[in-house]
Amino acid sequence: MKKQKLYIALYEQLKNQIIEGQYQTQDKFPSKRQLSEHLSLSHTTIEHAYQLLLDEGFIYSKPRSGYYVSDIQSLPVINVNSPSIETEANPIDTNQYKYAFNLAEIDAEYFPLNLFRKFAKEAFEDNELALLEKGDIQGELNLRQQIAHYLFNSRGVSCHPNQIIIGSSTEQLLNMITDILKTSSFIIEKPSYPPIKHVLDKNNHDYIQATVEKDGINMTDVLNSNNDIVYITPSHQFPTGYVMNLKKRTQLIKWAHQKHSRYIIEDDYDSEFRYYGKPIPALQSLDKKDKVIYISTFSKSLYPSCRIAYIVLPQTLLQSYLSMPYKESNTVPVHIQQIIANFMSSGSFERHLNKMRKIYREKLNYILQRLEPYKEQLNIEGALTGMHFTLTVNNGLTMSQCLHNAEELKLKLNIYNYDEQVEPIPKFIIGFGGIPNHQLKEHTDILIKALTL
Ligand SMILES: Cc1ncc(COP(=O)(O)O)c(C=O)c1O
Repeated sequence: MKKQKLYIALYEQLKNQIIEGQYQTQDKFPSKRQLSEHLSLSHTTIEHAYQLLLDEGFIYSKPRSGYYVSDIQSLPVINVNSPSIETEANPIDTNQYKYAFNLAEIDAEYFPLNLFRKFAKEAFEDNELALLEKGDIQGELNLRQQIAHYLFNSRGVSCHPNQIIIGSSTEQLLNMITDILKTSSFIIEKPSYPPIKHVLDKNNHDYIQATVEKDGINMTDVLNSNNDIVYITPSHQFPTGYVMNLKKRTQLIKWAHQKHSRYIIEDDYDSEFRYYGKPIPALQSLDKKDKVIYISTFSKSLYPSCRIAYIVLPQTLLQSYLSMPYKESNTVPVHIQQIIANFMSSGSFERHLNKMRKIYREKLNYILQRLEPYKEQLNIEGALTGMHFTLTVNNGLTMSQCLHNAEELKLKLNIYNYDEQVEPIPKFIIGFGGIPNHQLKEHTDILIKALTL
């Protein structure tokens, strides 16, 4: 056994004896020499073990007298008889499905982990103690600089790093936006990204829903409403997948310009992955009067667990934010912000995006080509961009028949249930990002088998 392991083992043993009550508070503890002789262990091993017990407060020393057992009831944490933390898998999670077209998953196989590890090491070496501090309330400046640079080059979004606030999720930042905005009347899409409703309901904000059409939000619904703030996902509407056209984008911006209190919240969550046609510029880049609050995330472009999203506030709202008497602390650890800033400044982020765009395009193309012969039976929509599309079954199979087939084949389907219909037509939302390439064929075979005649 290695020396280090031995002193740890001895420390554990002595600690447990104290916790289990073999020594009473203030009992004299064996001297180091006695124990060394008794156990035939080196003085160094005993010394290290005693030092740990002293450091943690299990024993204390009295000058020229020796070591004594402390009152362990006063210690904040003692790990004795703690319930087993080895839990069994949640029975609901036991893998009853073999196939799934999940949303919010990326293809982790292609993530450059080695490179990321290198940037992580650099972040810890370069910043050392600064990484342990709480960090800037708006997020680390160098990450905000990288984001500003990236947004300008990729989406035409022009902003100063001071306008950016980094947070742990889109939902968290939507909450923050509702705090910053003085008004409380919203227009959201129908159907819409579910968290926006939760945020508005929770904060008691009024909202109406404007229908989403194939070319974007219904502008008549917007114009007929007296509400001031529109939340939209124009570049890949969630969940329909529709893309808002340039005409509607311009109309919406014009609408916002007509009243001081109007703003547009543009959620640009997966625009990095546009596969066909020319990218339509972000609304923020078309607006010259500071009316767009831009919001995006690294959940798709990097990985969902990094928990970093960001907003770009118009200058006017930046002032409102800065003058808020209470501001939430930053919710993203400084070290992960530094690692991502390093990843971006090295050019690796851009290269990663280019690589992943190609990979996701190939996955999508493969699935679409395989579904092409069934186009009379399966209607695909929203497949120009991002990592999901919708699929409507038009061949007479009912929702319950589709679900039954899927169940038999161990396929998990995400029901498209955003429209609040009484009698839902079989419509599903198909996420493809997380399916590894080597499983793509089998997944697509199963999907076709479940949903076609
Ligand atoms: C419309 C929309 N916004 C944002 C996100 C990502 O949110 P987050 O940053 O909380 O991971 C998603 C995820 O699918 C989404 O559909």
